[in-house]
Amino acid sequence: MGDDGYFDEGVAARYDESAAEMFDPAVVGPAVELLALLAGNGRALELGVGTGRIALPLAARGVPVHGVDLSKAMVARLREKPGGDEIGVTIGDFSTTTVEGTFSVAYVVFNTIMNLRTQELQVACFRNVAAHLEAGGCFVVEVMVPELRRLPAGETMCVFDASEEHWGFDEYDVANQSLVSHHFSVVDGRIERFSLPVRYVWPAELDLMAELAGMRLRERWSGWKREPFTSESRQHVSVWEKPAWTGDRGDDQQVEPVVRR
Ligand SMILES: C[S@@+](CC[C@H](N)C(=O)[O-])C[C@H]1O[C@@H](n2cnc3c(N)ncnc32)[C@H](O)[C@@H]1O
Repeated sequence: MGDDGYFDEGVAARYDESAAEMFDPAVVGPAVELLALLAGNGRALELGVGTGRIALPLAARGVPVHGVDLSKAMVARLREKPGGDEIGVTIGDFSTTTVEGTFSVAYVVFNTIMNLRTQELQVACFRNVAAHLEAGGCFVVEVMVPELRRLPAGETMCVFDASEEHWGFDEYDVANQSLVSHHFSVVDGRIERFSLPVRYVWPAELDLMAELAGMRLRERWSGWKREPFTSESRQHVSVWEKPAWTGDRGDDQQVEPVVRR
């Protein structure tokens, strides 16, 4: 694998087309709405900004957005789009990369937190985000709920798409809390394969990572329109908050945080 990771030139060239349903305004609109609300008058930091699916419309709403991404190929696609030049981007790993200034909201969407393949890296990501947030700022994660309830004993494969031109299944390795997401797509009459290894992660485990980073859960929804999160939810949009201390009294004398609602 090269410097661009799994999202190399070949993947970047087809990314928008292969994820077309995620570019639907009905999908993007509510995400941008909630992120703009959380950003308020501040700046937004997107981890894994990719080709700008969310960053571009969020910036068009007047929110200054900065992105981090490993893949120069993905970012080149962002740059080609109208408004793409106005998004600041830092090339690097979002679990460790630092960016100048602070942000009122940081976010990582479309299961991208799972691209960090160890618990240590995911914890590092929360800590890195907390270091970039203003007091009272929020970290938003959109990620699937692991589908172990759909996996019969002894099985490892979980089909998530079987359409005319795309077949997708996740191959679970339960002992190591990981999976490989396999995609087979028809491209110009040929079948192309894309297999992405990731670490699946539970909502409660993410809450603990937030706690380790000094943040606390503020809201958890099953979607961007603030649909309730239930036992049947297949994904969640979670918002953790970096507490806004009522006064700077030093670590041993901190008072109760003010929780914004
Ligand atoms: C599924 S795409 C999502 C892109 C965009 N956020 C969207 O919603 O369309 C994941 C992106 O995260 C980037 N990425 C994956 N792991 C990363 C890491 N550890 N550090 C920085 N970027 C990473 C990939 O290069 C890719 O652009």
